[in-house]
Amino acid sequence: MRIDVITLFPEIFQGYLSESMLKRAIQRGVVEVHLHNLRNWATDKHRSVDDTPYGGGPGMVIRVDRVVPCVEDVRKLSEEWGHLILLTPQGRRLNQAIVEELATHRRLVLLCGRYEGFDERVRIILQPDEISIGDYVLNGGEVAAMVIIDAVVRLIPGFLGDEESSRQDSFSGPDRLLDHAQYTRPREYRGHRVPEVLLSGDHQAVARWRQQNRVERTRRRRADLLVLGWQKVWANDRVVCKNQPRSKDESPLPGLLRGGHCGAVWEPTQELPPAAITCQTEGPPVEFHPGEQPPEDKPPVEGGSVNNPQHAEITEETGNESEDHGACGKAIHETGDSPF
Ligand SMILES: C[S@@+](CC[C@H](N)C(=O)[O-])C[C@H]1O[C@@H](n2cnc3c(N)ncnc32)[C@H](O)[C@@H]1O
Repeated sequence: MRIDVITLFPEIFQGYLSESMLKRAIQRGVVEVHLHNLRNWATDKHRSVDDTPYGGGPGMVIRVDRVVPCVEDVRKLSEEWGHLILLTPQGRRLNQAIVEELATHRRLVLLCGRYEGFDERVRIILQPDEISIGDYVLNGGEVAAMVIIDAVVRLIPGFLGDEESSRQDSFSGPDRLLDHAQYTRPREYRGHRVPEVLLSGDHQAVARWRQQNRVERTRRRRADLLVLGWQKVWANDRVVCKNQPRSKDESPLPGLLRGGHCGAVWEPTQELPPAAITCQTEGPPVEFHPGEQPPEDKPPVEGGSVNNPQHAEITEETGNESEDHGACGKAIHETGDSPF
């Protein structure tokens, strides 16, 4: 992958690019990163790239007539046109799904802002993918660009060495749960013991414990990931799931979705749409039909409605489902530790 970064402060990247895994990946040719100083596209003797905002107000705004030619010239440096990203707190909020999407591109061009940001016409003319790394305001886009680079390069084949490792990370894989608790030597430290099951050598038991641990950890720390936005839908409406229910074993969220329906991906912040829509799922498309009353607390019927995956049910099912939960519970009891 080729990454071009347009910034007023290219020096900020030097340390980051010349250390550790990224340095080695660049040396091995897995990724190449090119830095471009926006100031080189200034045309006046003061090399200015910003100006005061029309209409008054504090701060400075980055000029459109500096940015557009710069991006156009940078794009021409490679035959690959590239996916242009503008870093802004007003963009779509970065998550692992977006990172995965970005990692499919052969070239990324990252545009870092400063001051009050860019003249609005930059966005209108270049139509970049506007990305925010979170709901807070940074001084500049450089740190945000480094966050994107850091997250994306992990997914480039050949970067980690073991691709499986990134699939098991938090927010990754088909269920996007948190990663399970990890332990290494010593077996016991200051009275804190490693859960017995991990020492058993029974691979299936270990796999079951880990999956159980991922679900339970996620439930305790990030219940919002488990409900995947269903909460909003369920608060108001019945959901009609048109896809075939999966068997319990196949469900990406074992023990969570009663009847084993696959989970529809729904942003918790999104309002329920006025009419039926088709949502993206890990499996076949699902249609939501808001406005219908939820049935009594019944498990879903095939191809029909889905009941609210309430937390109580999650706890109950995950608790009952695995024998190893007992082993895990025992370890907690004995050591006072919680692997969640
Ligand atoms: C001080 S900020 C400008 C904020 C802008 N006035 C606003 O409120 O939307 C300067 C630059 O930092 C970068 N930046 C700040 N917060 C960011 C965030 N959460 N995600 C991505 N980039 C951010 C952007 O490139 C932005 O142009």
